[in-house]
Parts: sequence; structure tokens; C-alpha cells
Amino acid sequence: MPRTHQVAGRVRAVGRGGDAVIETGEGIVLAPGGLPGEQVELELTRARRGAARGRIIRLPERAQERREPPCAVADRCGGCPLMIAEMSLQRRIKESFLREACEGLPGASDSELVWVAAPEELGYRRRARLAWFGQTFGYRQRHSARVVDIARCIVLAQPLQRAWDATREHLRTSIGGQGEIQLSLSDAVVVVELRTSDEQRPELFDACSQLSQTLGIGGVSLRSSDTGKPAVWGEAMVGARAHDGSSLWGPAGSFSQANDRINQMLVEHVVALAEPAGMRVLELHCGIGNFTVALAETAGMLVAVEQDASAVDACRANLAARRLQARVVEGNANRPPKGRYDVVVLDPPRQGAKDFFEEADHWRGTRRIVYVSCDTATLGRDLRLARDRGYRIDRMIAFDMFPQTAHLESLVRLVPR
Ligand SMILES: C[S@@+](CC[C@H](N)C(=O)[O-])C[C@H]1O[C@@H](n2cnc3c(N)ncnc32)[C@H](O)[C@@H]1O
Repeated sequence: MPRTHQVAGRVRAVGRGGDAVIETGEGIVLAPGGLPGEQVELELTRARRGAARGRIIRLPERAQERREPPCAVADRCGGCPLMIAEMSLQRRIKESFLREACEGLPGASDSELVWVAAPEELGYRRRARLAWFGQTFGYRQRHSARVVDIARCIVLAQPLQRAWDATREHLRTSIGGQGEIQLSLSDAVVVVELRTSDEQRPELFDACSQLSQTLGIGGVSLRSSDTGKPAVWGEAMVGARAHDGSSLWGPAGSFSQANDRINQMLVEHVVALAEPAGMRVLELHCGIGNFTVALAETAGMLVAVEQDASAVDACRANLAARRLQARVVEGNANRPPKGRYDVVVLDPPRQGAKDFFEEADHWRGTRRIVYVSCDTATLGRDLRLARDRGYRIDRMIAFDMFPQTAHLESLVRLVPR
């Protein structure tokens, strides 16, 4: 057993992962549950490579905007590390992530940081990834593969919570091993997707069938190996909500935005900043077409790139259903089709788009780059690469896509200097 001991410190900031960054006499320690400016007493838990970690045991001085979290299991679950802060403080913490990413870059100090608040602070999630381990159903704990038993989650939209109740009830006695559960709201029903690499008993198949027939459940799929096709009961397609309120169809498991109302505003801002009318537009990481169907309405020419073959098919079908034109290419966004583009819109996963930005030939002459990011660390890295090629920031917008969590969705526009 490693020896533990106690230290005192002050919280300097909340880091992008949601942990407090605490200055102590023994250096920086990361711990969940602290807010900027607070005086804390900590027990050091481990000091592997990188920063030391700890557990806050006392708060001699609390932040004024600290509050009792509205969820009874907030500290055990760890999925909503900012729930202990009033919304005004959550905003300042998340704005600081985007400010840090843009700090020192040309244009950053002249651009106002626009904040788009979430219309719903709770009950907003239309898609969620949960897990099971044995008979325990819940969320994976932060920094660990452990599953914390969660019966009720107040950031889920109500139909998702009802689907979660039904999933726990129907599968608890028949499921084994461990795996991931994705719940996606599809119009008015929920699609439940199970993924595991552990062998399952035949009873689970009966239970999935029963679950799929429960009120409020549109379909259930079970993928028990990485290679085989999933077994499906009921509907396997998910109808996400497009910016105009229509349905955007995609296979269960493909990416769709988790917060409808914020997504609607995100798409509107992407189009406003891209100014696609009559332009040659390159859209990278298009998924099932969330931005594509909005950009295609006015673009002079649109090429959209996506690596997931089933999302490419869905994107084409979503365009066709609206009689819109675009060339949707299955491929690697880091090596897009050669061509001259006026506008680039990109929305990479957390890893960002380093290879794309390093290869300037792809975007030479582009009038504007509209970068949607779910990770301000990789955003900051990529913005520096764009600066080195002569681009500056002219717009910065932060979207509170996931209130109570430390995740931030950002939108930055780059133009030539
Ligand atoms: C954050 S999602 C955005 C999807 C879409 N823009 C939306 O708003 O729903 C990122 C997408 O990029 C795709 N992707 C990830 N890496 C990629 C790559 N190297 N090349 C092309 N697409 C990639 C993923 O499959 C996923 O659909």
C-alpha cells in the first residue's frame, strides 16, 4: 500500500478534465471537487507519472458560488464535476478553457468570446453512454474502468431516463461480463445499443427482445464481437434532430450531437460563420450530415468527408431526402480530396486535426476556416499550426453543450492575416 499523507493548498483553477488544480507546499495536486480560490485540505492518493493526485477531505474556505449539487450521487459518479458550482461559475470556468486555447494567438485579444448558454441545465441529454459490469448498471467512474451503480441521472432527457429504468429492469438478471450501453433518443422513442466482447447467455437475447417491446423503446441492438453484425430487435436507425427540427437518420452507434437545443444554435452559427452561399466548401468529419444539410442549402459546391462508411451512407440519404446536392466522400479527413476551396468547416473528434493543419496544401488560399471543437487542448495545438501558416482568429464562440460537466463545445473562425 502506498503511504498517504495530508497537505493544505489553494485551488488555482479547474482543469479541462474537471479536476481542481491545487497549489500545495508539495507542488501541484489534482483532485475532484474543488473550485477556484478555495482553501482545501487534501489526502494525497497517488503520484504516478505526471501530476500528483489527491482527495479533498476538508474545505476551510469555500467559493461563494459553491452549491449543493442537485444530484444525490454527484460525488460518487463523477460524470458532472461542475455540478457543485452555480451556473455563473460553470460559465467562467469553461470560458477559461477556450481563452487558454486561444491565448497569445493573433486576433484572440481583439475577438469577443461569445457564450451560448444552455436553455436546459438538466434533462438535456438525448444521447448517453453508460455501462454494465456484472449486475451493476451505471456510469464508468472518472479515471477508472469501475462502473458506479446509477439508477437515476438528472441530466438525461426524460425518455432516456425511462429507457434506462427499463434497460436495468429487463437485462439485470440475464446479462453477464461487462460492456457499454448507448441510449439514443430517436424522435419519441429510444434506441438501446449494447456492446460487449464477453460471451452472453441465450437468456439475454430473450430479454433484449422483451426490452424492445417495452413502451418508449424503439429498438435494441447487441454487438458481442467487434467483427460480427449486431443482433437487432425492432428499429436500429436513430433519428437525430436536425437544425430545422426535421429528423436526421443514422445507424445506432454513429455520432450524433447530445443536446438538441444547443446543437440547433451550433449549426446556425456554423452556417453564419462559414457564409457558404455560392462558395466552394470543404466539410470534414461530416458524420450523418448535421452541418452538411444546412451548408448544402446555399453552397456553390460542397465536398463532405467522413471515415465511417455507414455514416457516409446516412449522410447521402439525408441529403437526398431534402433534394440537396453534395459530394460525400468516404475517407480520411486529414487527406481530403484535392481541390480549391473557399471555406473549410471541420468538426474533428477529441484528437483534433493535427495532420490536416500540418499539410498546408489542403487548405492554401482558403478564405475562412470554421473549426468546431470538443477539446480545447487539441484546438489550441491546431490553432497554433494555423497561425504558423498565416491565419488569425476572428470569432470565438463557446457553447454549453453539456451543463454540469467540464466538456465544452467551441467554435473558432480563422481568416488569413
Ligand atoms: C465530433 S463528430 C462530428 C460529426 C458531425 N459533424 C456532427 O455534427 O454530427 C466527428 C466525426 O468525425 C469522424 N472522423 C473521425 N476521424 C476521422 C478522420 N480521420 N477522417 C474522417 N472522419 C473522421 C467520426 O466518425 C465522426 O463522425
